[in-house]
Amino acid sequence: MFSGAKQFSNVAGVVLAAGKGTRMHSNRPKVLQEILGKPLLWYVRACMEKICPKNYFVIGFGREEIEKQFPELKEFFVLQKEQLGTGHAVKQALPRLNDDLYKYLLITNGDAPLIPESLLTEFVEYGLDSGCPLCILSMEPDDPAAYGRIVRDENDKVHRVVEASDIDDNRVKVLNEVNSGIYLLRTDVAGSLLDALDADNNQKEYYLTQIVELASKKGLSVAAYNCGHQEDLLGINTVGELVLQEENLQKKIIRKFLDKGVIIRSPALVRIGPEVQIEPGADITGPAEIMGATSISGNSRIEANVVILDSNIHAAHIKSFSHIQEADIQNSSVVGPYARVRPGTCVCEHARLGNFVEVKKAVIGKNSKVNHLSYIGDAEIGEDVNIGAGTITCNYDGNKKYMTQIGDKAFIGSNTALVAPVEIGRGALVGAGSIITKNVPEDCLGIARNRQKNIGRKK
Ligand code: UD1
Ligand code: CA
Repeated sequence: MFSGAKQFSNVAGVVLAAGKGTRMHSNRPKVLQEILGKPLLWYVRACMEKICPKNYFVIGFGREEIEKQFPELKEFFVLQKEQLGTGHAVKQALPRLNDDLYKYLLITNGDAPLIPESLLTEFVEYGLDSGCPLCILSMEPDDPAAYGRIVRDENDKVHRVVEASDIDDNRVKVLNEVNSGIYLLRTDVAGSLLDALDADNNQKEYYLTQIVELASKKGLSVAAYNCGHQEDLLGINTVGELVLQEENLQKKIIRKFLDKGVIIRSPALVRIGPEVQIEPGADITGPAEIMGATSISGNSRIEANVVILDSNIHAAHIKSFSHIQEADIQNSSVVGPYARVRPGTCVCEHARLGNFVEVKKAVIGKNSKVNHLSYIGDAEIGEDVNIGAGTITCNYDGNKKYMTQIGDKAFIGSNTALVAPVEIGRGALVGAGSIITKNVPEDCLGIARNRQKNIGRKK
């Protein structure tokens, strides 16, 4: 139905994101609530930046938190000190739009994150073609409940929008064409329409929607582009709606990967973030959570109950119950079951991390193995190394972190403590149960434990 996104050189975006989101029962500003690991504002911004060359974001409640999460938008934030309504919010942005380039404003709500770029493009094209100074994107949801109803006159022309809380007429209540909260407004009429708003309604707010009636009264025609039933346009006002839209997005992302040839088993239990890239041929079993800037190449296999964040998985096998964050897992390596791979780790080709192994900021060289019950932190492990069960790198003295270096073909016996900073040379052997505090040179045996004594038992 929709073709694709297009940028309009004469349209500036205004995103309304100043509200508290009272119905979320949270202290977090609503637009920072997340779906699939990204704040609502992230989605709206990504979409708007495809359509409009310049975008302003009206913020107010929790603005410091929003500014902190989006430092790169600093000069595009507009402050609405008091949240006196959506109309008042747009008005705050007008002084910033003194650039003659932008003949139109595309206004959207920061709480409707899933609007397809292609639909927004179609709407803007329709609005520009209509020649009307104001165009609204309307829709027909299953339940018009809390939405502003579009009231048309006898000639089917849009006459006004009635907010749900102001409906006192049953004939209006049953109208199923509602306001999506997306508008295209000609800049030259914006100021006079917004100046004429009053807060004479049940919420005592300056509603943006009042401009529809004000425009009609001034003889300015208002167009509406009715896109029918579009659950992607639904706003998020409650946590119920938050998780519903998250599920909606989750299904879309899964569908996209299935269509591409990624095998996703038990797909309803697999959560994949919007930035994740997966090549065809990867095989993933739910439940799983794959988030952030993660890439997974073809021929990777991800077993059930795995969490992967901001990592690259190259044709590797990730076994059940593993947790991987900010790591690079290279070809033909095997991780897990029950492995914890923390930031800054590289598991090189054909390496193995087994059960109950934690690795942080470490390189595990090609063909090397850390198979059981170990902690490897701040370490460089060469190729063909074997790390025995229960090996611990003692990397922290309570104050600073220190490195452990282990050369190629070294063999570390079980239950060894490597007290960093320490180097184990190429081909060295460390006896089981050692506490290694000094370097072990190449091809040497390092052993640091008490000799065994056998003492006869008294009978
Ligand atoms: C709004 C529309 C309604 C429409 C619905 C679509 C109004 C009065 N009503 O209702 O017709 O059907 O969206 O989802 O516009 N905001 C500010 N400053 C404020 C108040 C709100 O920036 O002073 C922001 C909010 O953060 C939010 C957006 O505007 O992102 C919409 O506000 P919200 O309170 O959610 O409006 P709705 O009741 O959903
Ligand atoms: Ca809303």
